[in-house]
Amino acid sequence: MSEKMAMPNEHRNVSKTPGHWVLAQLGKKVLRPGGKELTQKMLQSLKITTADRVVEFAPGMGYTARLCLEKAPKSYTAIEQNEQAAEIVRSYLKGGLQLCKLGNAQQTGLEESVATVVYGEAMLTMQSDSRKNEIIAEASRILEAGGRYGIHELCISPDSIAPSAKRAIQKEVSEAIQHPAKPITPVEWKQLMLDNGFEIEFEAVAPMHLLEPKRMIDDEGILGFLKIAKNLLTRPKARARVLGMRKVFSKHKHNLAAITLVAKKKQI
Ligand SMILES: C[S@@+](CC[C@H](N)C(=O)[O-])C[C@H]1O[C@@H](n2cnc3c(N)ncnc32)[C@H](O)[C@@H]1O
Repeated sequence: MSEKMAMPNEHRNVSKTPGHWVLAQLGKKVLRPGGKELTQKMLQSLKITTADRVVEFAPGMGYTARLCLEKAPKSYTAIEQNEQAAEIVRSYLKGGLQLCKLGNAQQTGLEESVATVVYGEAMLTMQSDSRKNEIIAEASRILEAGGRYGIHELCISPDSIAPSAKRAIQKEVSEAIQHPAKPITPVEWKQLMLDNGFEIEFEAVAPMHLLEPKRMIDDEGILGFLKIAKNLLTRPKARARVLGMRKVFSKHKHNLAAITLVAKKKQI
């Protein structure tokens, strides 16, 4: 990616910018709750080979796109709704069988059964319950029978949490990230997959340490971390946003986690 490429939402008032774009503008590339480690687990379980036709929903800054392309799938198609992010992802693509389309995961415009693998990270959490369902249904529609679908999202635990406590956390997270967020429990994530004709093959969870220094160094490397730290020192408004998000994540650390699920579309 060229340093001169426009960043998503870069002309918006920082206090109102969705949290993931504040982090991206500060130099953060890994924008999903379980970090690189949970992404690697999802990818290992998806077992992408050169025979696969892969569709990625919401690639953001293209971090997982690049890991996926290293596996040289037969084709790679991303569906991203943000124009600047789509441009950044396109800068990593080569040839006619690697595409990033501007569009919505709930209505991709792709043909039925076109993919053998679909995955998306940190993109369902920010949708309403009905939109989550639409996106998972669309993943099922574009996958051939036996195809694999991977998700990596924020969850609220334990499964037995009181509905009022769950709603309070959803509200605080939404306010902190300045974007609607409806993380749900592991059982609810799995039920959404089952309701759309998937069987769960793999499940893993990790702590929600997106903004913890150790995770940031693991995810971004020491140089990436230092760049973000320097930007935080020189951009007080962005720093206030990051501290606000970190405070809420830390307050709810016993009830917030990252989850990845890999599921198979049932044969009919
Ligand atoms: C938190 S970022 C995650 C980006 C990337 N997947 C990652 O984990 O680093 C959320 C991304 O989802 C995209 N997005 C949100 N809703 C979408 C939708 N309905 N269809 C396509 N992209 C969507 C946003 O534009 C953004 O790139």
